This record gives sequence, structure tokens and C-alpha cells, in this order.
Amino acid sequence: MSYTKEKIIESLRKVLYFPKGTNVVDLDMVDRLTIEGNKVSLALVYPQANDKNAHIVKDAALRTLKADLGENAEISIDTMSEQEAGRGPLGKVKNIIAVASGKGGVGKSTVAANLAIALAKTGAKVGLLDADIYGPSMPIMFGLKTERPGAKEVDGKTKILPIEKYGIKMLSIGFFIEENKALMWRGSMASNALGQLFNDAVWGELDFMVLDLPPGTGDIHLTLVQSVPVTGAVIVTTPQNVALADVRKAADMFKNESIKVPILGVVENMSYFAPEDCPDKKYYIFGQGGGQLVANELGCELLGSLPIVEAIAQTGDSGAPIALDDSTASAAAFKAIAVKVVANVEKRNAEIAATRIVQIDPNASCATN
Ligand SMILES: Nc1ncnc2c1ncn2[C@@H]1O[C@H](COP(=O)(O)OP(=O)(O)O)[C@@H](O)[C@H]1O
Ligand SMILES: [Mg+2]
Repeated sequence: MSYTKEKIIESLRKVLYFPKGTNVVDLDMVDRLTIEGNKVSLALVYPQANDKNAHIVKDAALRTLKADLGENAEISIDTMSEQEAGRGPLGKVKNIIAVASGKGGVGKSTVAANLAIALAKTGAKVGLLDADIYGPSMPIMFGLKTERPGAKEVDGKTKILPIEKYGIKMLSIGFFIEENKALMWRGSMASNALGQLFNDAVWGELDFMVLDLPPGTGDIHLTLVQSVPVTGAVIVTTPQNVALADVRKAADMFKNESIKVPILGVVENMSYFAPEDCPDKKYYIFGQGGGQLVANELGCELLGSLPIVEAIAQTGDSGAPIALDDSTASAAAFKAIAVKVVANVEKRNAEIAATRIVQIDPNASCATN
């Protein structure tokens, strides 16, 4: 027996996506519908990869289709995020990497900027979004303080054009707020402005979008991480005890049930100081082994330990981050971190692909995952 597309769509109209109070067809959640004989396969597309209602809705869809098409129908339902389905403003952004820290001043922006550059040097298409509303620093780090992003009409709507520098598409909240006014940008105002940087900008195709998050774990973080399909987080820490406590808080936020963003690894910054005239002599000013400790506790990899290097600070201030200069040890260190980040992103994406069910046995119970 064969089934028509219309019949299947009609059947799926009975399946509710209850958070929005209407059915999956009207919400345009049904994608990739194919029918071959008695085999019906489709995908349900959710705003986020880890939508906690996905199982319930999928089970309901299976039950409904079985009831309407009959027991002989072999139905497979895939679940994917809008991003995976290639939809929405970030639909062509393959991976979003959030760089986070428990507190400010640990080198989060330094790591974000240099990681973006190191990723771009591997040939990847890279974007950088500076979402640190408390201390946007990318305009300075990229030497773009006096620049402003342009605009472009797309489908009758005005969109923001990221600025391109060093082969990276960049937008910063700093382009839109006056200096020293960041603290006024609390709550919904900040979240709305950040939302525009994601949704109303022309990001196009990217292999990686690096996200410089504000430090800490406030409401703005939650809104941001919940509303953007973040692939994974890189946690930056210094070795001090205080920073360790803060970093655990930041990590807990990503592990939160409603967020569930995997931690790709820890970068320990300002690990030690090695004088230029005696580079083998390492002074562990802030203590030793803190980054590894955090990585162990979070069950993730220590991606690298970066020493205190005058040139890292200087190049950050002068608009040409150190990762651009291949002759430096720091550029090599950022490259090594980037390679590990890519490997962990690929591992994570493979794990997600493996957990996807594709085929459902017609006789199996609908509760099958
Ligand atoms: N490894 C390092 N060696 C020397 N200076 C560094 C290093 N990492 C960061 N800095 C400097 O420390 C300051 C804070 O770094 P930044 O990246 O802005 O931190 P955050 O974004 O966490 O607030 C900046 O002036 C930066 O240039
Ligand atoms: Mg910063």
C-alpha cells in the first residue's frame, strides 16, 4: 500500500507542539518527507537541538501516523534543530562555539579573538560575535574602533552586514553602544540587541561562529544560550582559586537541563610567566595545575595553557591579535587549541548523529527512542 503526501500531512495536523499550542504542520516543523511504498520518513524540526519536548511530540506523531496509515506503515522520524535543517538566519552556520568565563579579565576575549583567527588559518569560514555587553573588546582587538557595520536589504528587510577583517566576519555589541554606557544595557534591552546581531545580520555560510560571551552567569547568558543553537562551550580560566569557583558556576550553567551545551574544553590562561631572556624559566605566579583541575572536574579536556606574554596584550591593543603572526610561540599555542576544538566539535557532532533514530520497526512500541 502507498500513501500520499496529503494524507500524511493531514494526519500530522493532529500532532500538537504544545509549547506553541498548535500543530506541527502549521508550525512548519515537518521537513524531508519521503514516501517509498509503505516506508514513510520525515524529520521534525525544532528551534533548538535539545528541545525537551522532542520525544513526546515524536511519539505522538508516530502513534498518530500508525493509527491513520495502518500497522503496515514503516515510519521513521528524525529530529533536528532549525540549524541542522539549514533554516533560519543561522541556518548556514555549522557550529557555534561560545567562549565563556566565570569572571572578567581572565582573557576570554583574547582567547575568542585568537581562536577565531587560528580557526580561519585552517581554511575554515569563521565569524566572530562579540556579545560581551559589559566589556565589548573586539572593535579594539581587530582595529575597528571607528568602523561601523553596513546594512543590506534582504527580502525587503534591512539587515546588518558584519565587518570582514583577517578573513573573519565580525560583529560586536560595541559597534552599537556608546562606551561607558554598557551598564545601562541590562536585561531585555541587551537581550534584544544581541538577538538582532544573530537574527538580523547577514552571516551567510560559516564553519564556525565564535561567540565572546559576557563574563558570569546572569539572565542575559541564559537567554542567549537558550535562544542560539550553541554547539559547545570553551571555558577560559586563570589558575587562581577564586576564578576556579566562578568557572564552575559558568560550567554549571551550560550543563543546566534546559541548556545542555557540551563543554568542549578548558583553556588555562596566564598560567605562568616566562621571561623573554630566559624562556625555560617558568614562574607560576597564580599557582599551578588549576586549569587541569577544572577540566578534570568538568570531565573535559584541557585544551591548552597559555603563559603571560607581553606581546599577547600588546597585539590585542594594537588591533592585530598575536595568532596572526605565525613566527610566535603564542600563534602555535592558539593553533594547537583550535585543532583540539575542531576535533571535539567533530566528536560531538558525530555523537549527535549517532543518537538520531532513523528506522522504526513497524511492530516496535512507539516509546522507542
Ligand atoms: N596570556 C596573556 N598574556 C598577557 N596578557 C594577557 C593574556 N591574556 C590576556 N591578557 C591581557 O589581559 C587583559 C584582559 O584580557 P581580556 O581578553 O580582555 O579578558 P576578558 O575578556 O576575560 O575580560 C587584556 O589587556 C589582555 O590583553
Ligand atoms: Mg572581554
